[in-house]
Amino acid sequence: MTEHNRPLDVLILAAGQGTRMKSKLPKVLHPVAGRPMVAWAVKAAQELGARRIVVVTGHGAQKVEAALKQPGIVFARQEQQRGTGDAFLSGVGALEQPDADILVLYGDTPLLRPETLHDLLADHRERGSAMTVLTGELPDATGYGRIVRGAGGNVERIVEQKDASESEKKIGEFNSGVYVFNSQAPELARRIGNDNASGEYYLTDLLGLYRDSGKPVRAFKLADTDEVRGANDRAGLAEIESIMRARINAGHLKNGVSISASETVYIEDSVTIGRDVTIEPGVILRGQTRIADDVTVGAYSVVTDSVLETGVSVKPHSVLEGAQVGSGSDVGPFARLRPGTVLGEGVHIGNFVETKNARLGAGVKAGHLAYLGDVTIGQETNVGAGTIVANFDGVNKHQSTVGAGVFIGSNSTIIAPRCVGDAAFIAAGSAVHADVPEGAMAVARGKQRNIEGWSRRYWEGLKEKVAVKLPWLAGWLEQNTPQ
Ligand code: UD1
Ligand code: MG
Repeated sequence: MTEHNRPLDVLILAAGQGTRMKSKLPKVLHPVAGRPMVAWAVKAAQELGARRIVVVTGHGAQKVEAALKQPGIVFARQEQQRGTGDAFLSGVGALEQPDADILVLYGDTPLLRPETLHDLLADHRERGSAMTVLTGELPDATGYGRIVRGAGGNVERIVEQKDASESEKKIGEFNSGVYVFNSQAPELARRIGNDNASGEYYLTDLLGLYRDSGKPVRAFKLADTDEVRGANDRAGLAEIESIMRARINAGHLKNGVSISASETVYIEDSVTIGRDVTIEPGVILRGQTRIADDVTVGAYSVVTDSVLETGVSVKPHSVLEGAQVGSGSDVGPFARLRPGTVLGEGVHIGNFVETKNARLGAGVKAGHLAYLGDVTIGQETNVGAGTIVANFDGVNKHQSTVGAGVFIGSNSTIIAPRCVGDAAFIAAGSAVHADVPEGAMAVARGKQRNIEGWSRRYWEGLKEKVAVKLPWLAGWLEQNTPQ
């Protein structure tokens, strides 16, 4: 086996507490662009083609394990957080074979790019290094372990902030905490002690142990130190999130998506977007959302786990979740499509229309103020303003069917479970409580009665007040009073 096709095992350290987040949630589960921080490390490991991924858990272990549970990921518990060296040792037992390169990542540095890790690994392999540490350079690296280089530039030691001398504290090159080790690391790590300022087992001590055994140790320097930014508190988390968001948006801009006021647009990295798509300010796109070509998503709309087919137009302030919108349809403004909504082609959903578990055929129009729940509606049906499908009887939900080419007059209630046949009419204001046959007209409302002169008699009794408050009506009364 050559060094270039050696298998890769990845160990992700994620047992730390993260007290400064002040949260019930373990630190590594705080989401960045829709994914728990530690899941970003897992994703990077998967993209590198890792043979095995071991996540070392401790604080909130059960929650972390539940969040990451998937084939190919193994968990190792670190019972007591006694330092990164101890965490590493807790994890190595779960590594598969003793012949792999071992990459160590942290669970709280989600900005690390798989491309960077790929370059790190290539450098390690090409130079035949036994250990490569990923470093960065900052004008002031306070807090980090510093890279101490000897004459000739060789990496000699990593010294922690607490253990550093005054001159070492001035070193700008810092340890990111990411390393590639050859397969000797587990054995060498057993020799790590805790004789230092924190009384912890430092994984950084491996560097000295490799050097002592005469093995080549090298550093690989990051171009962009933002990549190893860790989130220690919520402010750090917010900064990481805004960097991630800008990075995701930049990717879409490059691929032919127009995003106005990009800094206000939030797109999770799981979302896919086609070409000639326009995303207006304040839009949020989440989860398994897929947007085809030529779509517009209007300002301040939130789209979660939804599919928007070609040419769809979502107008401002619409909220879509678990919805499928057929090509050429338009939705909103102020529409709410809830899970189970499936719209055919060219459907029109206007303002203040809510749908849930509703299948609307091609060309259906529901222009204003409606609730369509648990219903299938055939093509070209017109749903009048104020239509309600009353799907709930207080205990159970019921399903209704409305045929194609139906005209539902405004302010009608369809009391489920109900069937309305094709090409039927429902008179405005009906409470439809019986099925309507194909082609029929249902009128289900009180009959109109006009009582002549009622208004005059009513206002006469209130004449003084009318004179003060309703001058036009006072005049009308005057003219219409019988002589
Ligand atoms: C570590 C490095 C330091 C480096 C810095 C980069 C050591 C001794 N120091 O310091 O050189 O500049 O990272 O951020 O390694 N963890 C466990 N179990 C433990 C302790 C830590 O799983 O017992 C995990 C944490 O969850 C975290 C990571 O290891 O993901 C780093 O731990 P942290 O305590 O932040 O290390 P630093 O002191 O910052
Ligand atoms: Mg740290």
